[in-house]
Amino acid sequence: MLIPEDKISEILNRADIVDVVSDAVALKKSGHNYFGVCPFHSEKTPSFSVSPQKQIFYCFGCGAGGNAFSFLMKHHGLVFPEAVKMLARKYGIEVETETMDPGVKKKMAFREGLFRLNRRVSEHYFQTLQTSNRARAAREYLAARKISQETIDRFRIGYAPDAWDDMVTFFRKLKLGRRLAEASGLVVPRKRKNGYYDRFRNRVVFPIFDVNMQVAGFGGRVMDDAVPKYLNSPETPVYNKSRILYGLHQSKTACRQEGVVYIVEGYFDFLSLYQHGVKNSVATLGTALTDEHVRVLKGYASKMVLVFDSDTAGVNAARRSVGTFVRQGVELGILVLPKGKDPDSFVCEHGKAAFEEAAAGAMAVIPFLTEVALEKHGLSIEGKIRVLDDIKQSIAGVEDSAARSLYVREISQRLGLDENAVLEKVRTAGVGITTADGESQSRKTGELESDKREKQMLSLMIQDSTVREEIRKKNILDYFFSERLRRIGNRVERCDRQGSLLAADLMSCLENSEDQELIASLAMMEVPGVDNLHEKSVSLMNRIVKIRNKRDNRLADKIKKAEQGGNSELSLELLAKRQMEVRKLHGYEK
Ligand code: CTP
Ligand code: MN
Repeated sequence: MLIPEDKISEILNRADIVDVVSDAVALKKSGHNYFGVCPFHSEKTPSFSVSPQKQIFYCFGCGAGGNAFSFLMKHHGLVFPEAVKMLARKYGIEVETETMDPGVKKKMAFREGLFRLNRRVSEHYFQTLQTSNRARAAREYLAARKISQETIDRFRIGYAPDAWDDMVTFFRKLKLGRRLAEASGLVVPRKRKNGYYDRFRNRVVFPIFDVNMQVAGFGGRVMDDAVPKYLNSPETPVYNKSRILYGLHQSKTACRQEGVVYIVEGYFDFLSLYQHGVKNSVATLGTALTDEHVRVLKGYASKMVLVFDSDTAGVNAARRSVGTFVRQGVELGILVLPKGKDPDSFVCEHGKAAFEEAAAGAMAVIPFLTEVALEKHGLSIEGKIRVLDDIKQSIAGVEDSAARSLYVREISQRLGLDENAVLEKVRTAGVGITTADGESQSRKTGELESDKREKQMLSLMIQDSTVREEIRKKNILDYFFSERLRRIGNRVERCDRQGSLLAADLMSCLENSEDQELIASLAMMEVPGVDNLHEKSVSLMNRIVKIRNKRDNRLADKIKKAEQGGNSELSLELLAKRQMEVRKLHGYEK
């Protein structure tokens, strides 16, 4: 580990896991722990838990677990030192980066450089819009689109002048290196490799912030009918289109409060809604909604409403992204606005109340898909069959069986078909559908008895100091069959000797995330009450020792017998077999 250990524990001590996780997951307290919907897999009922005492999180559904650092790493896709820095920053702790791995440090510095640059550029465009004579048309354009000064300030809307070298000059003044300049995507190399020109020219510019309020990229709109109407930054090391949602940095609190998020397409849709007081929305910026987007949003609201224009492109986009929501068990509504309206024009014309009323009447997924399919295929016999073919997969994908059968009934009524016929179609579509849950269960049931026992032992060990004493005195870990569990047990012992045995601390000495997750699951296991704890742990220890001895003895006996019988060939064979077996039990071989 290249950041000093004491730094890491200082940060961990100061940080509060509930606080950290709450930035991304809506949590509710229940007993000692907090629960929420897991941001790392698809689920409807919360199995994601956070323990303030142990300072760890663990999902009983998918097994994701760890401490505050691991949470940040998983959630934001960071490497460990980045997570350390992020948490340190949150709690105002200084970390000297000198101690970091040079490669990682370089990468981080580069990303930070890009963020810093983007921030400067966004302020540059903002100032240009505010003060430059060249920006008059842009100011008028925004006014004509009813964007207030307050909105411009809050979202740092700017203007890129009608020039090929405004940004190039700006970069030159900053003495910006070539690598950073190119990686920013704000300038484009000329074809003949003789310098650069500006990407954004004569466009209103919208900085795109990530949830940490950093400027990740930009989008720009022309002010007339020129094409392309919108231009966006390319993907960069800090701009990941499949993760970022426009406006979430400002709307996240409102999304939490309302428990619902409106998903719209465009910058102006988002901004107009916000300006009219509908603050719980995000914009996808015209890209297809990804699983990643939905996963991010699930941290803020359990219900989502897709808001689309009534044009066919909008409806098609809605149809395409529906699967993403269904797979992730999100309660989804689809709001198709009246002909010719997008969220921007709708809310400008009718106001907040009307928008929310319309949203309340949003269609559920399956009825929406049914209507779309019906529109396309009609109600003839062939039409009905095609409709069923179009939607059967989606119905099969509905996890809640009660909801599924309700849909089947509704659709059979809508199509005037026998319910069983519909059901049959859905069944054939459902074959081969495997859920994440199904997988994790089969993994669970395939567990070795010895593993189970040893895990229980470790769980008690992690959670109780007298058990740790006892294990050490009796060398219980030596009797473990599982090499991995023994290694983890040794780790626990070492940490204990250093006097820091909080599950969260323990995790930061384990580099690999599977081990962290295992620790998290062990730390979250129920421990019997004090009265039974001793009894339980002694009986576990005895069993572990006994079974191990028995198995070893059985083999030793065989070997002995073979030797006594003078059958050296057999004894060699058995010896080899024993070695194999031991190796296998210790996890060297499968
Ligand atoms: N978009 C894009 N590139 C385009 C067209 C659209 O990236 N050539 C993205 C933009 O983020 C835009 C969103 O898709 O905000 C929706 O596009 P569209 O429906 O065409 O436009 P509006 O949002 O209605 O744009 P405006 O109101 O500014 O005309
Ligand atoms: Mn529009």
